[in-house]
Formats: sequence, C-alpha cells, structure tokens
Amino acid sequence: MSVAVAVVGLGKIGLTLAAQYASRGLSVIGCDINAALVESVNGGHCPVDGEEELEERLANALRDERLTATVDTAAAVATSDVVVVIVPVGLTGEQTPDFTHLDAAIADIAGGLRPGTLVVVETTVPVGTTRNRVGEALMNEDQPPLLAASPERVSSGHIFRDLRSYPKVIGAIDEASWTKAEAFYSAALEAPSLLRVRDPETAEFSKLAEGIYRDVNIALADELARYADAAGIDVIEAIDAANSQPYSHLHQPGVGVGGHCLPVYPYFLPKDSGAKLPLAAREINDGMAAYGVSKLEQALGSLKGATVLVLGLAYRPNVKEASHSSALLITEALRARGATALIHDPLYSDAELAALGLKPVAGLPPEHTDAVIVQAWHDAYDDLDFATFSGCKVVLDGRNALDRARVEAAGMRYLGIGR
Ligand SMILES: NC(=O)c1ccc[n+]([C@@H]2O[C@H](COP(=O)([O-])OP(=O)(O)OC[C@H]3O[C@@H](n4cnc5c(N)ncnc54)[C@H](O)[C@@H]3O)[C@@H](O)[C@H]2O)c1
Repeated sequence: MSVAVAVVGLGKIGLTLAAQYASRGLSVIGCDINAALVESVNGGHCPVDGEEELEERLANALRDERLTATVDTAAAVATSDVVVVIVPVGLTGEQTPDFTHLDAAIADIAGGLRPGTLVVVETTVPVGTTRNRVGEALMNEDQPPLLAASPERVSSGHIFRDLRSYPKVIGAIDEASWTKAEAFYSAALEAPSLLRVRDPETAEFSKLAEGIYRDVNIALADELARYADAAGIDVIEAIDAANSQPYSHLHQPGVGVGGHCLPVYPYFLPKDSGAKLPLAAREINDGMAAYGVSKLEQALGSLKGATVLVLGLAYRPNVKEASHSSALLITEALRARGATALIHDPLYSDAELAALGLKPVAGLPPEHTDAVIVQAWHDAYDDLDFATFSGCKVVLDGRNALDRARVEAAGMRYLGIGR
C-alpha cells in the first residue's frame, strides 16, 4: 500500500511516529509551527534526545526521501491520504483542558483537507473531542470527514519498542473511516494487533482510564507508604510480597507524580462526572512533595537556613520533560520552610533551570549541602559518591531508588518513602 501521511505536531511523539511510518515505506510529511524544529529535521539533525532508535531511523528516512518537514500544514494535508494529529492538549490555569494547539492545528488541516482523507486524533483528549470539536471543525459543506481516535499510548524513551508491543486501540466514526484506519495502521505499524473499539469516545476514554488508573494506584501506594512510615514497616517489601499474588498490582510510592499525562488526565473528566477518586488521588500525589520535605525537616530538626540539593528536575529518569515535575513542588515546599533549594539535572542547562525559577547548583559534588532529595534518579547519577558531598547529613530517597547501605556507608542518614 502506498500511503502519504501528514503527521501534525513534530514533538517527541510526532517525530518518532513520522520516523516509524517512514521506516515502513510510507511517504511522510511532518508538520509543525516551530520553524527552527522543521529546519533542524530537514537538515538531518534529530531535535529529540534520549529516544532509542530515533536518530538512526530519522537519518534513514531522510536518506530514502521518505520524510520531509514543513510549517505549511494545509499544503501537506492536501497531498496526504491520512493525517495523524499529535499536538498537545494540556491544562489552562483553571485546570480545564486547553485546546489552543489542537484548535489551531485542526484549522490548518481544514485548509487542505480533501474528501477521502482520514484524520486520526492521536493526542489524548477529553471524551467527545474527536467527534464534536474536531469533526465539526472539519465538516466540509455538510460532508463529514473520515475520522478516528487512536490515542497514543507509548512512553518517550522507548517509543518504537512500545509501538511494536502494544495493541493499537482505534475507534472510528463510521465503517469507511475504520476501513481506512485499518489499512493505514496495518501498513504503518508492527503492532501485535489493531484493537477496534466501537467509537472514538471509547478510544478516547480508554486512554483516560489507563492514565487515571495509574495515578490512583500510585496515590494508594503513597497512602500505604505513609502508614508504613508510621508503623515502622518497609512498604516496598510489603508491596513486593502483596504483588506476588496475581490480583495485586500495587505501584510504587514516591515524592509525587509528574509529566504531561498522569497529572493532567483526571482533569479531562467533566467536572460533573461524579468521579471522586481521580481528584482525591491528585491531591494525595501532589501532597507527597511536602510530605517528603517534612520527613527531611524532622530528620534535620529544622530546615531554616539549610541548603538542600534536589537531584533531577525531569519528572522521570532519563527523559527531558519537566511539566508538572514533583521537583517544582519540592523546591516550593523547601523554600516555604526557610531552606535554600538547589537543583541539578544533567539533561538541563543552567539557563533552562534558571528559566523555571530554580537555582542550579554550581556542579557535583556540591560545595556544601545539608541534605539531598532524590527526585529523579538518572542513569548519569549511578556513579555518584555521596561521601564527596561536604556537609550532607541526610539523603531523602524520594523514588526508593538508592541502596540504603551505600548512603549509610557514606556517613549519612537514609530516608525513604514508606521505609
Ligand atoms: N510525551 C509522551 O510521553 C506522550 C505519551 C503518549 C501520548 N502523548 C500525547 O502526545 C501529545 C504530544 O506530546 P509530545 O511529547 O510529542 O509533545 P511535545 O511538546 O514534545 O511536541 C508537541 C509539538 O506540537 C507542535 N505544535 C503545537 N501546536 C501546533 C500546531 N498548531 N500545528 C502543528 N504543530 C503544533 C509543537 O511545536 C511541538 O513541536 C501529548 O499531549 C499527549 O496527548 C505523549
């Protein structure tokens, strides 16, 4: 099947999808409003760091002339059989869905859309967005567009592996849209199966359900960890034991849940949905940063005037993504208690850290710090020797990622979450 596909939104996910489709022999045009990014892709530079296989696949796609990038979305759409939409929908300041990027992208797509071209919304969106918001904006003289929702479920860092491993969930608006979506995804992916659900709403909801499940599960682990702390139990040992039975799938507790997925999707449910757990989980998970800091405060006696180094701005290890990172809540809680919060992250420049209102440490080991909080344990930290951290008395292992013995051997007190 010879398919021309436009990928709208060439970010961490979109660029990787574009390279995936090209590697399957499809002819791909990547569209983005960021002209520098488009130029970089066309110039053969991979703008995304740390994505397994991406550099090589991108280079092959460019060499084989199967991928180009453009800022002219309408023109790209006009020559495409399939359009994949993967621009972000985040939150406004009022914690409601922010459709700014999606609406702008759909307006550009509408400018070039031909009858018979399938538009697939891969962005995670509130239920009904594909049919109502996107469908209505793409309506052409009462002619409904071919439309499907197929939320992207991959995690950055190992997207190609995830694309090969997970069934592709697709909810099409009608049979003609399904036939086209089935042919496209069969050609474009090596997914183990295409999982057709009855409509776009079910597909949209499946992604929200997946994310909210994880956020709620972590909130439960966090509450169990708080109890374990009070009762003198090691929660990790207890969770491992509980999960040895097939009906228990407890996740790991920690100093909070970040990223642009899990902390966002609970707010994609309508305010009158009646669901209580998702928002309660948000509150619990967001409270873990202050909980960790209060454990540190107890251990040090006071945080007034203390210097505390936070390791890791990224919301999870080895991925340069800081939205809703717990590091931001941790530094806020430290400052509120009178401490100086320093931050280190090998994935970010000092200027990038400072732009977020954070205070980058001059280097590692730090000149002086009273305590360390591990927020994201990047691979680059594996060789850190805490014994070289002058003045450091306590290490709060916010991800339960460290070897307690190693910290104690360096002469410091080890604190975990629920240990
Ligand atoms: N990052 C993840 O781990 C992940 C995982 C699964 C699904 N998703 C979904 O993918 C979406 C995108 O995530 P990402 O990490 O690629 O985001 P990103 O911020 O890395 O990239 C988004 C890109 O969209 C571009 N863009 C914005 N408005 C546009 C417009 N009007 N037209 C064309 N391009 C436009 C931006 O310039 C940017 O390059 C998320 O919102 C989420 O729904 C993300």
